Amino acid sequence: MDWLPIRIRWNSIYQKLLVTYVALTVLGTSILAGYIILSFYGYFMSMRQADLDAWSTALSESIADELEENNFKRVEVIVQRYGARQSVTLRLFTPEGRLLVTSSPQLDRQVADWKTVPGMKEALQNKPAQGVAKGILSNDDRLYTARPISRNGRRLGILRMSITLEQFQRQFRIVIFTLLGALVVTVVLCAFISERLARNMANPIKAMRNFAIDVGGGHLGDKLNIHRRDELGQLATELNRMSKRLASLDQERRAFLANVSHELRTPVSNVYVTLDALASGADEEPELRSRFIQTAQDETMRLSRLIKDLLDLGRLEAGVTTLEQQPIRVRDLMNRAVRAIESRMHSKNMTIVADVPDLEIEGDPERLLQAFLNILDNALKHSVQDSTVFISGQVEGNQITLKIQDQGLGISDRDLPHIFEQFYTGDRSRQGSGTGLGLAIARRIVEAHGGKITASSTGKGATFTISLLLNAPSC
Ligand SMILES: Nc1ncnc2c1ncn2[C@@H]1O[C@H](COP(=O)(O)OP(=O)(O)OP(=O)(O)O)[C@@H](O)[C@H]1O
Ligand SMILES: [Mg+2]
Repeated sequence: MDWLPIRIRWNSIYQKLLVTYVALTVLGTSILAGYIILSFYGYFMSMRQADLDAWSTALSESIADELEENNFKRVEVIVQRYGARQSVTLRLFTPEGRLLVTSSPQLDRQVADWKTVPGMKEALQNKPAQGVAKGILSNDDRLYTARPISRNGRRLGILRMSITLEQFQRQFRIVIFTLLGALVVTVVLCAFISERLARNMANPIKAMRNFAIDVGGGHLGDKLNIHRRDELGQLATELNRMSKRLASLDQERRAFLANVSHELRTPVSNVYVTLDALASGADEEPELRSRFIQTAQDETMRLSRLIKDLLDLGRLEAGVTTLEQQPIRVRDLMNRAVRAIESRMHSKNMTIVADVPDLEIEGDPERLLQAFLNILDNALKHSVQDSTVFISGQVEGNQITLKIQDQGLGISDRDLPHIFEQFYTGDRSRQGSGTGLGLAIARRIVEAHGGKITASSTGKGATFTISLLLNAPSC
């Protein structure tokens, strides 16, 4: 496109829209104007042609009457009378093409050979002819007709009649200029409107492109200020939502990293300090030695549990862990979980009352067991001596709803909305040394099974509710 006077950047939506709009307008209006001009021209010409045809037919009849009676004087009068007007020229020829009478004798004297005049050749061959030709001597366009005059099979002569088109052409020029003027005005107006339309479309797209570049460059949480009701407005809203979500994910990621490093550092430094103390002679005192060794073992255990939890969570989040899909009897699975914590329950003199219907679900038994255990572990940690944990199950539609209710300290309103977050632990003074990953893992597992987990705490203790899809009964 280097030959264009302006360098068009075809990679810009604005330019593309503008050029398309204007090109379409020019094309549309040009086709319309062309059609109007051609129709106007065709209509006028056919009207004039019909008129000329009617006049020449009537005149040739009158002339034929006079010629039959050899009344040449009358013929001359007719030709002079009807050809008197400057716009009309009438000529009468012998059947051989010799000029007999003419309404413009001065001009006609200069014509050497009438056979070359348009229409005469056909008329001499006894065929009527019609058309547009240049004036014989003047240069104006004329509509002519040349027709043979015959009576009872006898050729009496040839009548040639022509009318000037000068007035029509003048009128036609005015029409063309008016139309061209209207065309230019329309195109300018449309170009103006198109420019606004193109800008209106291109500006928000440009703003969104810049916004995407900014977000991609790390400006998370930025906001686009585009308020429209159309698809572009909806796209802007979605981009804003995306930017906000990315910002919060980024924050979560940072918080997660900070928590992980903190949680890992604590047991590691505990082990380090303990081993250091042992190395500096604490192992000489048997009581201190065994206490320090116990601490080192506990902290290593804690560290290994933490690493396992983190790995589990990471895999679940990334969707790397493929869940097994096998039929599970809910009651059996819950009994396995209860048995696993039974000994710890006894040490607190606690009891578990479980009433779960023997129904089947589809899923990964080991993962679900882990989720149940995390909840039971919490119930145990937060329960008081001699209390009871109730486990119940109820069928609701195509789901089974499991409730695990303890009689412990309950969860405060402040903690309740956050307990499923990673690393969220409630008031540390009230509970053991958890890292706040148990419920986050439980939630991921339940959700990966298409289920839901919620917590409530009214009155005494906390209640966890897990809903899971039941297996459709096989027919
Ligand atoms: N049954 C419960 N009674 C009272 N508070 C609870 C109960 N279950 C959970 N919570 C609260 O929710 C928080 C988060 O629980 P979660 O299981 O995720 O972490 P944790 O038990 O502290 O640590 P982890 O399970 O990783 O060892 C707990 O710190 C506790 O404050
Ligand atoms: Mg826990």
